[in-house]
Amino acid sequence: MSELEHLIENNKHWAKSITQVDPDFFTKLSQQQAPQYLWIGCSDSRVPANEIVGLLPGELFVHRNVANVVVHTDLNCLSVMQYAVDVLKVKHIIVCGHYGCGGVRAVIQEARVGLSDNWLGHVQDVLVKHQDEVRAFQDLDQQCDRLAELNVSEQVRHVCRTSIVQDAWNRGQQLAVHGWIYSIKDGLIRDLKVDVRSNEEFLKLD
Ligand code: CO
Repeated sequence: MSELEHLIENNKHWAKSITQVDPDFFTKLSQQQAPQYLWIGCSDSRVPANEIVGLLPGELFVHRNVANVVVHTDLNCLSVMQYAVDVLKVKHIIVCGHYGCGGVRAVIQEARVGLSDNWLGHVQDVLVKHQDEVRAFQDLDQQCDRLAELNVSEQVRHVCRTSIVQDAWNRGQQLAVHGWIYSIKDGLIRDLKVDVRSNEEFLKLD
């Protein structure tokens, strides 16, 4: 028996529980996907995108990486965005960070993790930009929380600046970008109220 047998078993139960409610669920899903939302979140195992917003397979297009970073030259993230916006025509892009993020904490503590330090350099850039505000908190957890929030706002800006979102807005496609933060302590999402629906709104963002 495979050491991962329990996962295969879980999968059988999961598929069965879904088809009990809707016998045609997977048949319908296999023919098309029409998600309205693209989720850009952290890889952290405690932040499972579909589950925390109560969406079923087919309803959420997802990209996750360490510390939910959107880098202008990251072909992986850009390809996900391009497919979501140009082909699937999602109406919303949600950047969701989370409190208690290990990547953010490593940056605050100036800890060495390994290769990921280079990736986290993007979060460090956010810290450098908002150094005074973040370091004004005495408490380390509060510094981490604030940096996690600022990181989301910064990544929302990066999303807006991509050629993908710019082109979509220029051709009049309905597309909004949002910034959220999730707390692993209570399972709740806080809306950071950075919603951008057009270049006019993007320019007004401070
Ligand atoms: Co994280």
